[in-house]
Amino acid sequence: MSKEVSSMRVKRKALVSGATGFVGSHLVRRLVQSGWEVHIVIRENSTLPSAQEFNKVIVHTIDGSIECLVACVGKSKPDVVFHLASLFLAQHETKDIESLIVSNVLLGNQLLEAMKVNQVSHIVNTGTSWQHYNNEDYNPVCLYAATKQAFEAILEYYIQASGFKAITLKLFDTYGPDDSRLKLFNLLNNSAISGEPLNMSPGEQLIDLVHIDDVVDAYLIAAKRLLEDKVSKHEIYAISSSNPITLKELVESYILVIGQKINVNWGARPYRNREVMNTWSSGVCMSDWKPKISLEKGIADALEKNYVNINHISCG
Ligand SMILES: NC(=O)c1ccc[n+]([C@@H]2O[C@H](COP(=O)([O-])OP(=O)(O)OC[C@H]3O[C@@H](n4cnc5c(N)ncnc54)[C@H](OP(=O)(O)O)[C@@H]3O)[C@@H](O)[C@H]2O)c1
Repeated sequence: MSKEVSSMRVKRKALVSGATGFVGSHLVRRLVQSGWEVHIVIRENSTLPSAQEFNKVIVHTIDGSIECLVACVGKSKPDVVFHLASLFLAQHETKDIESLIVSNVLLGNQLLEAMKVNQVSHIVNTGTSWQHYNNEDYNPVCLYAATKQAFEAILEYYIQASGFKAITLKLFDTYGPDDSRLKLFNLLNNSAISGEPLNMSPGEQLIDLVHIDDVVDAYLIAAKRLLEDKVSKHEIYAISSSNPITLKELVESYILVIGQKINVNWGARPYRNREVMNTWSSGVCMSDWKPKISLEKGIADALEKNYVNINHISCG
């Protein structure tokens, strides 16, 4: 953790959406460890992470209504809102439209309105590099990315009309311990354990991976900028490793760290429609943030902390 981040020990109040997700749960833990009073908004059927820091968190259960969110923000009166809640779908089906709009647009708009009603004006928002397919200013990879852009446009209204100060962090791929999402490392891990071959695309697409601790650093630095009144309206940053590698290189690094062969069938699957072959590279980096955890260290750390020790499992 950087000196600037760890020195931010004053009792500040945060309201976090998406706190039960991968990034949100790590953020909440760090905020609690750093002395923040942390409020979270969750759905009735959300499962709270088991990390002990969550015992210190004030939980507000929301029911989808604006009145409920106005009351939550009124009770918590946060210095900073961290908005991470989202539904991620790489490809949508017709039945997904409503959930995408509810999670990625409506919920966020309700949160902004609730902030306005309660005179709360600092928000750290979360975007995605997938808003920038082919490195364009705006070209959404998928409908999920388009809904993130739609929310950003709505946020812009509150910035212009109500004096909100915002920082949007556009994330690339993230990884680290306690990641239950069926992402690449989990698939590789499962394949190493079972010995089952893993069917993959040709593997030439670039991946920009940032360790979750570095990602969380970015949220705290963003909050600090807002609290120190360094943001005039809306700052947008790319939370990039600045060192994208191909999927093939990534798998090779993983295999090197675990010291065990994985049977990958390269090219057994086609690339996805609108596969991101080249990652977004024209985003602005936060001047006081840069990732510190190397991929090798990050993988080793994640394996030690929460994956099964695959060297001790018979691959049949
Ligand atoms: N992780 C990445 O690599 C990555 C890359 C680019 C951008 N991002 C962005 O980063 C943010 C965090 O991502 P993540 O990977 O941590 O997501 P995640 O693990 O999928 O978690 C999503 C979170 O959003 C909550 N949520 C979804 N819909 C909601 C709704 N309608 N009402 C209330 N809560 C709702 C979920 O709550 P439940 O527990 O109730 O489901 C969960 O806490 C998202 O905005 C995502 O778009 C992430």
